[in-house]
Amino acid sequence: MSAPNKSYDPVEVEALKPEQIERMRDEALAAFAAADSLDALQEAKVAHTGGTSPLALANREIGALPPHAKADAGKRVGQARGAVNKGLAARQTELEAERDARVLVEEAVDVTLPHDRVPAGARHPLTTLSERIEDIFVAMGYEVAEGPEAEAEWFNFDALNIGPDHPARGEADTFFVATASDSGSAAGSGGTGSGVVLRTHTSPVQIRSALDRELPVYVICPGRVYRTDELDATHTPVFHQVELLAIDEGLTMADLKGTLDHMVQSLFGAEMKTRLRPNFFPFTEPSAEMDMLCYVCRGASVGNPDRPCRTCSSEGWIELGGCGMVNPRVLTACGVDPEKYSGFAFGFGIERMLMFRHNVEDMRDMVEGDVRFTRPFGMEI
Ligand code: PHE
Repeated sequence: MSAPNKSYDPVEVEALKPEQIERMRDEALAAFAAADSLDALQEAKVAHTGGTSPLALANREIGALPPHAKADAGKRVGQARGAVNKGLAARQTELEAERDARVLVEEAVDVTLPHDRVPAGARHPLTTLSERIEDIFVAMGYEVAEGPEAEAEWFNFDALNIGPDHPARGEADTFFVATASDSGSAAGSGGTGSGVVLRTHTSPVQIRSALDRELPVYVICPGRVYRTDELDATHTPVFHQVELLAIDEGLTMADLKGTLDHMVQSLFGAEMKTRLRPNFFPFTEPSAEMDMLCYVCRGASVGNPDRPCRTCSSEGWIELGGCGMVNPRVLTACGVDPEKYSGFAFGFGIERMLMFRHNVEDMRDMVEGDVRFTRPFGMEI
């Protein structure tokens, strides 16, 4: 066996000398210690552990060493690299901890500080409830109709079969704006030559709709109405109504009843229903009061002394508004042939509905404009 061919062994490499390896290690550790941020440490990491770092380059030289020197140099470089990686990891942990501590302080939110944000507003619940009711009917194909609040007496009364002697026409309920003699063509008289009143219901919008539209007519008329009532817990001289009018061929009271049931079920829940009680309105014949199942006891208090209900006085029903089949005289006043067409109508107050639906106890809260009342209702759109 021949001796190793010494002439192939390269000379001892400068880069692999122990003091050089130690210097590389110490320089790396010093660079890590000097890095005062994670970014700076990243740079030092690339410089001292990357592919072109002095230790990596030294490592490459090992392969060319004579066999007896390989193990020795390999061990030296390996240990140095181990120490460098350890130093890097330790500094990394230190800098990350410093950063976390700093972020905690910098990004802390003092929830007790006073703030100057403009408080979020809210829509008035009468508006949102009215829109919700409108939506129910729009979904069934009704149109929303509006009309003037200062209204011709003819639209507010005469066309609705409320004759000159009807008590509702007297001073007791109605705000008069202009009499027939001084109105002539006053704003709102609609050229009818009649006086002008603040409308006492939104029924005149139904008349305007029936006159303006092609048949059949399906309209829902929300709006502000006026009556000479004192403001108290259950009355306000300015309030809101929703009235509905349907005129078509073959409409019956069954259609009216089904429409009412659908409305209260949409607003109060699937088990709700309505009840009609005979009544009189000049503009409908037959006419009825419409009641809905008590929204609190849902009828469970009736004949049940163990479970009395204050809301409906244990009657099981709550009065909601008026309704009926449109009086043929009203149809005629609107130019509709009562022999061919029939119609139904109903109307009710939104304030009362809001009291039911949200347990509002005092109507004055609805008109005073205090945001503490409206805010809990939020921004329902
Ligand atoms: N217009 C009536 C009112 O304001 C309500 C109503 C409308 C009654 C339609 C019957 C039919 O009291």
